[in-house]
Amino acid sequence: MRRAAIYFFSGTGNTEFVSRLVERELLRNGVAAARHSLDFATAIDLAPYDAVFLGFPIHGFGVPVPVRSFIEKLPRSDSKKAVVFSTYGGFSCGSEKWAARLLAARGLVPVGTLGIRMPHINPPGVSISRQEVEKLVARAEAKIAKAVPSLIRATQRVGTFSLSRTAISSWLNPLAIDHELVDFSFSKRAFADERCTGCLRCLRACPTGCISMRDGTVQFGEACCSCLRCYYGCPSSAIQTDRSPPGAPRYRGPAGDYRSPTRPAAATDVRPERTAVPPVERRWNSSAIAATGDTRAEENEDPGR
Ligand SMILES: Cc1cc2nc3c(=O)[nH]c(=O)nc-3n(C[C@H](O)[C@H](O)[C@H](O)COP(=O)(O)O)c2cc1C
Ligand code: SF4
Ligand code: SF4
Repeated sequence: MRRAAIYFFSGTGNTEFVSRLVERELLRNGVAAARHSLDFATAIDLAPYDAVFLGFPIHGFGVPVPVRSFIEKLPRSDSKKAVVFSTYGGFSCGSEKWAARLLAARGLVPVGTLGIRMPHINPPGVSISRQEVEKLVARAEAKIAKAVPSLIRATQRVGTFSLSRTAISSWLNPLAIDHELVDFSFSKRAFADERCTGCLRCLRACPTGCISMRDGTVQFGEACCSCLRCYYGCPSSAIQTDRSPPGAPRYRGPAGDYRSPTRPAAATDVRPERTAVPPVERRWNSSAIAATGDTRAEENEDPGR
C-alpha cells in the first residue's frame, strides 16, 4: 500500500476525529493518505490510490444511509484494497462487514475492518464527561496505532459474512430504518426554538438535504438519517426535540471544536429577516423528559458558539 484515500462520514465529529488518527498512522508508516468527507462529494476519483479506507458511525446497528448511497456511487475498481472502520458508542454489531460486502460488490478487495469505541452521542443531549472522552480517545489512539501497520500489510480478503451479525446489521437495520418499522427518525421530533438566528448552517450541513426554511422557521423533512449533525452543530443550540430538555449539553466532537462540512451555498439560501423572533410552538414532552429523571436543562445550559 502506497497511497490511500480515506473517505468518511461523521455526524457529530467522532468519525472525523478517528479518520485523522488513521491518516496520522498511515503517514507514520510511509503511506501517503488523503482524507475526504464523503458528504457532498461530487466527483469520486479513486485512480490515484491503491487502497480505500471507509469510515462511518454505527447508526441503529447498521451502516448510515449516506454511506450506503456513497458506496453505490463508487466507480467500479478491481483489485484496490479496502479497509472499513467504524466508530460506535456501545456495540457495532459487525456493521463493518456489511459495508465491506457492499464495497466488494463494487470490485474492491476488503482486507480488514476496525471498530473504534467513541462517546455515544445518542440520545440527543446526552451528557458526556471530558474524562470519558479522554479515556476513549487514548484507547482509540492505541488501537489504531497497533492495527494500521498490519492493515497496510494485509493482502488476504476478509470474510464478510457472519450469520448472527449479518442478520441484525444488514437485514434488520434496513427494515427498521429504511422502511420505518421503528420510531427512529430524529426529524419527526425536532424543531428549532427562538434561539434560531436563521444562519442556515443546519440546512447546508444536513447530509440528506431534508431541512428547509419556511416563513422564517426551520422545517424538518422526512429524508432524515438521524445523524444528529444539526442538533449538535447548531451554533445557537436552537434545535430541540420533544424528548430532550432545552439547554441539554451539546457535544462538539472529541476535540470540542467539531464543525461539520456544509454543501456549497445555493441561490435559494436566503437568510430570513429577523424583525421579530418568530413564535415557536413549545413541544417538549414533559412526561418523556420526567421519565428519564433528567435535570440537565438547569445544569448544562450551553451558551452556544
Ligand atoms: C441515530 C443513532 C444511532 C446509533 N446507533 C448505535 C448503535 O446501534 N450502536 C452503537 O454502538 N452506537 C450507536 N450510535 C452511536 C454512534 O455510533 C457513535 O456515537 C459514533 O461515534 C458517532 O459518530 P459521529 O460523531 O462521527 O457521528 C448511534 C448514534 C446515532 C446518532
Ligand atoms: S443552525 Fe441553528 S441557528 Fe442556524 S438556522 Fe439552523 S437552527 Fe437556526
Ligand atoms: S435533519 Fe439533522 S439529524 Fe436528520 S439527516 Fe439532517 S442533519 Fe442529520
